[in-house]
Amino acid sequence: MQAEPLQESTPAAACPVGGMSRDGLTEPKCPFSAASPGSIKVGTGSGKRPPRIKCLPFIGPIRQFTGDVLPFLNETRQKYGDAFRMPIMGNELTILCGDDAIALLEHDELLCTTKSMEVLMKAVNSRLPGTFDGPQHKFYRRIHSNFLNRGLERERRDEIIKVVSKHSSRWQPGDTFDPLKESQSQTVDVLSHILNGEPFPFTAKELSTVVHTLIFATYGHLPLWLALNNPVYKKAQNKMNENSLKIVHRVRTDPKVKASTLLGQYLDFPPPDNLGSWEDSDLKIVPIAAYLAGYDTVASAAAFMLYQLLAHPEWLQKVREEYQQLSKESEGHVDPMQQKVLRAIFMEATRINPPGALVIRYATKDFQFHGYTIRKGDEVIVQISSNHMNEKIFPNPEVFDPSRFLGDDATNLKRTVLTFGSGAHRCTGAMVGPLFSQEMVSYWVNHFDLELVPGHDKPKVVAVPFTQPMNLKVRVVGPRAA
Ligand code: HEM
Repeated sequence: MQAEPLQESTPAAACPVGGMSRDGLTEPKCPFSAASPGSIKVGTGSGKRPPRIKCLPFIGPIRQFTGDVLPFLNETRQKYGDAFRMPIMGNELTILCGDDAIALLEHDELLCTTKSMEVLMKAVNSRLPGTFDGPQHKFYRRIHSNFLNRGLERERRDEIIKVVSKHSSRWQPGDTFDPLKESQSQTVDVLSHILNGEPFPFTAKELSTVVHTLIFATYGHLPLWLALNNPVYKKAQNKMNENSLKIVHRVRTDPKVKASTLLGQYLDFPPPDNLGSWEDSDLKIVPIAAYLAGYDTVASAAAFMLYQLLAHPEWLQKVREEYQQLSKESEGHVDPMQQKVLRAIFMEATRINPPGALVIRYATKDFQFHGYTIRKGDEVIVQISSNHMNEKIFPNPEVFDPSRFLGDDATNLKRTVLTFGSGAHRCTGAMVGPLFSQEMVSYWVNHFDLELVPGHDKPKVVAVPFTQPMNLKVRVVGPRAA
């Protein structure tokens, strides 16, 4: 088949995915406006496949892929270029890196999420994830962005701090804790209060069983029948489904609950035409999805932030000075948007260890990327963190230096950090996620003296699949004077 170049000069506004029309999702082809000319073409072209990396057959580089995956991918990229393939437990993955790969995420024309979403539809028996690709997805995104914004954090700040302070008030001098586990349990309670209108109603074990089973089933590295038939998972998933149906009922019957929950916002937006109206069963995924998307990500960011602050006392000092100054000026709790130093800590911690460094997609048709053929149906991983360790953009990229993000000229640099992804599926929690992480970390370090426990003072970075710091331990030295 003849390669067909994408229409690079077509204005983005004419793209059907960009909102002009609900029809014609695949034709005419949308341009990827940020891609370099000629780098992406529709059609099989020469048929030359991206190189397969040298690794164990079938199993592949599983240890590196589930460990500190970024240095591994960066090294592999230097050796093989911006497109390469590898097996992981029998699945063949095509990895795409660099700005042209990120440009592919602009819309769902060539790479879509459908196969991952089918897993969720099946597991939770909801049609909602089936609306995730194509023009109808903008309705979903609008629901989220109207609710998950700065105003939500501002209105609910007292409640957020109350939840965080309740958890942290259990800390006694001499206690030690794993910062990842602690931030996970605080994060889910915050998310549950603020998005679902209730204290977190499950055990940590139930949550982690459901979230990790669904994530691994979605990522395709666990056969679906095996994942979804595990009795421990089934029991926990049923409990979550039943609880979600109760929230759906509350939202449908109580206008106050409707107004104050993420689920409630869906009732103001009809589903795509072919779905008729939202059934209770469709909506029950919303409270669960808040955990799926927010639990590991917010918690990982907070745990890495805490680690970096305790490992860099000079920055901890700056964060505390900023907080003390803002406390004097504010009537209530300090506004996390004003904590510029703390935000720079968030940026730098997630530049080095982005909670979601990779995103998964499936090729909708044959296309060429940098002259290599990607086939319809290929499982494609795009490294959204491609530029995070680029020394031309971040001199001494390994060094933790939040000052990169301070100052008036940091705006363009901030855009190169893709902690929240890019394009059609960029994180809709990108506004509240960092604010929740900041609020937790700010509370911890401004109300307690904490230290890393020797022997557990360096994280083992793993990707499961979110990047997480394992094996860290923090000791509570004592409360700080107000
Ligand atoms: C620091 C915290 C967070 C990080 C680092 C993060 C990261 C990401 C990333 C990288 C993506 C892109 C996935 C892709 O392209 O396939 C994403 C998508 C998403 N995130 Fe987040 N996230 C965070 C917090 C949250 C929170 C608190 C929520 C809200 C509950 C949320 C909801 C979502 C949703 C719904 C999507 C899918 C959006 C779409 O498909 O249009 N995230 N997130």
